[in-house]
Amino acid sequence: MKIIIINGPNLNLLGKREPEIYGSASFEDYFRDLQLKYKTIELSYFQSNVEGEIIDKIHEVGFDYNGIVLNAAAYTHTSVGIGDAVKGIETPVVEIHISNIHAREDFRHKSFIAPNAKGVIFGFGLKGYDLAIESFI
Ligand code: DQA
Repeated sequence: MKIIIINGPNLNLLGKREPEIYGSASFEDYFRDLQLKYKTIELSYFQSNVEGEIIDKIHEVGFDYNGIVLNAAAYTHTSVGIGDAVKGIETPVVEIHISNIHAREDFRHKSFIAPNAKGVIFGFGLKGYDLAIESFI
């Protein structure tokens, strides 16, 4: 089983960025824990701050992976292109957000990904990535 986690802009700063919202753990450390927990799964991780690179990665994995866990971060709320990429592939996508986007500013309530996602998980911190992987299993 092949699952990829794709993280969008500014998520490379996890652990340092607004820790009161996003926590103090780095994603690399959390990803290592996930790899240990899901030893039998081919779990990979990609992060980019560039919209087109995220679209390219979705195309690359979108026809032979079993699942994509996608936190498109700020692009969630703005990117028709990432929304269209999710619509155009075969691999199911679970959209995830660390914070409760509906408890925050109005502009975070809109998602271009959700209409074509298998499901959406938000508000449970980094645990949401784990829950998304569980959902594919
Ligand atoms: C986020 C929520 C987005 O609104 C924000 O732009 C992010 C992170 C989250 O994981 O909570 O960068 O996707």
